[in-house]
Amino acid sequence: MPPALNESVVVVAGGARGIGRATALRLAERGARVAVLDVDLSAAAEFDENLTAASVEDELKDRAGDGLCVQVDLTDPEATERAFAEVVNRFGHVDHLFIPAGGAITPYSGSAASQTSHDAYSKLVAVNMTTVVNCCRSAVPYLCAAGGGSIITVSSGSGFKVAAGGYIAGYAMSKAAVLHYSKYLAVEVGKHRIRVNCIAPGVIRTSRLIAQSNVTGFVASDDDLALIPLQRQGEPSDVADVVELLLSPLAGFLTGQLIAIDGGASIV
Ligand SMILES: NC(=O)c1ccc[n+]([C@@H]2O[C@H](COP(=O)([O-])OP(=O)(O)OC[C@H]3O[C@@H](n4cnc5c(N)ncnc54)[C@H](O)[C@@H]3O)[C@@H](O)[C@H]2O)c1
Repeated sequence: MPPALNESVVVVAGGARGIGRATALRLAERGARVAVLDVDLSAAAEFDENLTAASVEDELKDRAGDGLCVQVDLTDPEATERAFAEVVNRFGHVDHLFIPAGGAITPYSGSAASQTSHDAYSKLVAVNMTTVVNCCRSAVPYLCAAGGGSIITVSSGSGFKVAAGGYIAGYAMSKAAVLHYSKYLAVEVGKHRIRVNCIAPGVIRTSRLIAQSNVTGFVASDDDLALIPLQRQGEPSDVADVVELLLSPLAGFLTGQLIAIDGGASIV
């Protein structure tokens, strides 16, 4: 098990639901002071994701004795700056940043490359790419001031390998951009002892993904599972495991890398 996070301050951008919430709670259990930023702090309710307390902030406090939630649209650069300032005002500094905010938020039908509307491309770039750029721009000065840290961005299997049938093209394009941006950022900030890595989840069984699977078909049948080397789809805790590792000193010489968390699905 990686070492405890010893009251490190971790910002989880998009942490009110799904992968972000599961990871935020895990990091709090390991002793981190976690700040969740999210456009909708009640997002878990949309897909009946059960909380263990009245709010995500209360869940964090139950685990770490402290925690902060800030409602903010991370596509807005000024609002993002203010949110990070609020975190620093509360906790004094920022050590690490994890950015799961985003998703394939536009309709699945009509999502092939030449069919995706201008509006859909714009929304997908904003929610998946602009959020990452805004968070990193806001966070890097604080991480430099803290003497270094770790940034973890979130791409997707579709960000480096074309999804079956060529669907979700706009989403995949925006996630490919996240990967490339992360490599550029790693080169820029390595001298400040800031590591930047990009994770690419395969299918992770979040409340949203399960609720939408009747349209997307992303929740696999037993036949599909047999094609995945580890023969199962992922759980949010699988992602939390890798984030915990990447924040720890055990990953101290790891930067600029893409780490697929997909049970080996992308290699076959
Ligand atoms: N679940 C999967 O199978 C899977 C696979 C590959 C990649 N991913 C990526 O992992 C990330 C998390 O996925 P998830 O399934 O947990 O999704 P989710 O929709 O359950 O959670 C995303 C969170 O981001 C927040 N968010 C969205 N737009 C925002 C904005 N503008 N500002 C602030 N917060 C915002 C949402 O409110 C929500 O709480 C996403 O980036 C997604 O694209 C997920």
